[in-house]
Amino acid sequence: MKLFPTDNFPHVTGNRVSLLQIAETDIEDLIGISFYDAVRAENVQQAWEMQAKINQDYLDGNSIHWGIADNQTHKIVGTCGYYRGLDKGEGELGCVLLPQYYGKGYMTDGMSLAIHFGLQTLGLKRIWAATDQHNGPAIKLLERLNFVKTASLCDGEIEFELIQANS
Ligand SMILES: CC(C)(COP(=O)(O)OP(=O)(O)OC[C@H]1O[C@@H](n2cnc3c(N)ncnc32)[C@H](O)[C@@H]1OP(=O)(O)O)[C@@H](O)C(=O)NCCC(=O)NCCS
Repeated sequence: MKLFPTDNFPHVTGNRVSLLQIAETDIEDLIGISFYDAVRAENVQQAWEMQAKINQDYLDGNSIHWGIADNQTHKIVGTCGYYRGLDKGEGELGCVLLPQYYGKGYMTDGMSLAIHFGLQTLGLKRIWAATDQHNGPAIKLLERLNFVKTASLCDGEIEFELIQANS
């Protein structure tokens, strides 16, 4: 399923942060939070190879991965995106912040933009997220964004689903 324009990666602008395509110049800063298939990059080369796979997944319509940029400093503070379910008109949201930006509200702002884009632009029918049952900050973030717990999975993960205003 091709959901996205191939020539024009969607940027989403908010008041404090914006969602942008990650550029080659961002990669070095993001090594510690660069993942693909749950494996973390250990160096620039690996992070860059992962980014190339992420870019291909976008072109194939399977996922969309943004860098969250501070509008004032233009620095990338973390990443978020939809990583599964798009072929069914649904989206699994994921996110990671660089640790130096924890506790400042950046992810709440970034995820709010991603949710709005998912509902309004992609027309997703359902948005969900999964996290470890002991991951307090992630659970707090999801609840703040109007997600509710829908399932406890056998591997210790909890699944959350976005409650939409009109549902
Ligand atoms: C999950 C994760 C993104 C949460 O990070 P976070 O810093 O708690 O989330 P936010 O950036 O939204 O910041 C919210 C916190 O900043 C505080 N804050 C400070 N200044 C703020 C401001 N100007 N505006 C809004 N909130 C502000 C809020 O009160 C809140 O603190 P609290 O949770 O103690 O009440 C982070 O822990 C992380 O990257 N973890 C590793 C990856 C992960 O677990 N991902 C989850 C997958 S679903």
